[in-house]
Amino acid sequence: MEELAALRWEGDFVSLLDQTLLPHRTAWRRIATQEEMEEAIRRLQVRGAPAVGIAGAFALYLGLRGFSGSRDELVPALQGTARAVAAVRPTAVNLAWAVNRAVAAAHTCPTVPAAVASLLKTALDLLQEDREHNSRLAANGLPILGKTCRAMTYCHTGAIATGGHGTALAILRRGWQAGAVAHVYIPETRPLLQGARLTAWELKRAGVAATLVTDNAAAWLMSQGRVDLVLVGADRITARGDVANKIGTLGLAILARHYEIPFYVAATRSTIDWSLADGGDIPIEMRDPREVTHFSGRAVAPARMPALAPAFDVTPAPLVTGIITELGVHRPPFAETLPRADPGALASP
Ligand code: MRU
Repeated sequence: MEELAALRWEGDFVSLLDQTLLPHRTAWRRIATQEEMEEAIRRLQVRGAPAVGIAGAFALYLGLRGFSGSRDELVPALQGTARAVAAVRPTAVNLAWAVNRAVAAAHTCPTVPAAVASLLKTALDLLQEDREHNSRLAANGLPILGKTCRAMTYCHTGAIATGGHGTALAILRRGWQAGAVAHVYIPETRPLLQGARLTAWELKRAGVAATLVTDNAAAWLMSQGRVDLVLVGADRITARGDVANKIGTLGLAILARHYEIPFYVAATRSTIDWSLADGGDIPIEMRDPREVTHFSGRAVAPARMPALAPAFDVTPAPLVTGIITELGVHRPPFAETLPRADPGALASP
């Protein structure tokens, strides 16, 4: 079976899997400019915090590869481009983290060609590193599953949301292979259906026993004793362990607490924002209200109905049982147990 990838570097351009067309069509887009990459990120053709970060690093390279000014002029150009790219999706810190890391590496280069080459190298390194980190994270997560775990996940955290295998979904896939996961429940994840379109597709492809449910079936399933564990990904984790993730995650965490079900979060350290403690300070991306009033291009609400489309919510740390990273399973108090990211992990460009 062909390995899944969100994007590939083709020597002169990026091939990007258009995730908005899945599961019905597998189509690759050719992305050769910063603007094309920004548009792909904005339209969620590439999505999932780690994949968006990697795409952002490529956007920076594509935007600056034709730079013809001096070394001194490159500095403001780099910073301006990094700010523009990072602003496309403000909640997932991976995007700002990745472009910051690329800018920091380019700053150390003595010439413009060397700086531009380093931008490409950073993007390729990020792709490779994320793959490796996902693999370690998946192994670290196995002990939380117990023996015959019936898990609920949310949104989509698989291979194409990352540089490689995925985060929460990689643990569940590996758990299934090891016989530790018996079943996975997938809420569809309104309004854009990442659960129904992407998680269901990836788990089916991997042969994992899984059932799709509407988002509002989660409480009923838990009340019936059919969920042993909730395992989700993250878009930003603060220094004290508050977790921003797809809108609806907070509801699942509150339900899990009510029904005394462990609630775990899986993310690589690139998702930890050490500059913030309070999750209330995480900027929440607001999307086009048409994503709520329309479905597949058709209106499902009265004309001009006001609607709100927050893309993410924040689960407070006290509702989180543990956070799994490439370095292990971290337990509360997270301010003391979360592992520091590398020095490239600055907050915003
Ligand atoms: O808006 P999306 O589809 O980019 O949201 C994705 C999520 O919320 C994921 O759970 C998160 O990015 C983790 S991906 C490993």
